[in-house]
Amino acid sequence: MHRGLFITFEGGEGSGKTTQINRLAHTLSQTGHKVLTTREPGGTPEGEKIRDLLVQREGGNWTPTAEILLLFAARVMHVEKIIKPALEDGKIVICDRFTDSTLAYQGYGHNHALDAIENVRILTLGDFGPDLTIILDIDPEEGLRRSDRRLAAEQFNVKEREDRYEQMDIEFHKRLRRGFLEIAGKEPERCHVIPAMQDIDVVSNQIADIVRKKIAG
Ligand SMILES: Nc1ncnc2c1ncn2[C@@H]1O[C@H](COP(=O)(O)OP(=O)(O)OP(=O)(O)O)[C@@H](O)[C@H]1O
Ligand SMILES: [Mg+2]
Repeated sequence: MHRGLFITFEGGEGSGKTTQINRLAHTLSQTGHKVLTTREPGGTPEGEKIRDLLVQREGGNWTPTAEILLLFAARVMHVEKIIKPALEDGKIVICDRFTDSTLAYQGYGHNHALDAIENVRILTLGDFGPDLTIILDIDPEEGLRRSDRRLAAEQFNVKEREDRYEQMDIEFHKRLRRGFLEIAGKEPERCHVIPAMQDIDVVSNQIADIVRKKIAG
């Protein structure tokens, strides 16, 4: 058993994951906790290379199975080299997306068999997983509007823009939303669904309450 706490944030594009992770990390640091924030795909130099292949517009035309294997290759590096050592050091690790995103995007989104993804998860991670997962739930049309505004504000050139998933059609994003809600329904102890259309401060307070309760045990 590790000593720290592993928290993951999940949800569709523009649901507010990055915003809320930064806020939670700040709140926890101010109350004396050691915090590490990280993200998937990525988190290690090797994983960041895989991220570019997966999320950039010209990163490649992967089949769903190839995509799943790339995601878990990056994930197992991330877990072994970054996440587990930080947890053993007593840190609270907050990760922007994790296995639930693979189930939602490749499983529910691309209709890949969920049990096949589960098998790859067990092969790579065994019984390791998050202690707590915050799922930010948003109407995909609103989420994509938010993402568009954010991407427009970031001055990437077109080739490097991380918008391959934003380019998928709206039905894809609706399947993702349903997927995240089904995952939460199956694991209510671990997963907490927060309506992400609420005001940013309201969302932050709800998340902080859940995390405080978890820390208090
Ligand atoms: N509750 C909220 N109400 C209104 N706007 C919000 C809210 N939360 C976040 N935003 C804004 O929406 C945009 C997207 O938020 P953010 O980048 O945190 O989402 P994300 O889930 O990390 O998106 P992505 O999946 O694209 O990484 C940002 O410009 C952010 O300021
Ligand atoms: Mg983000």
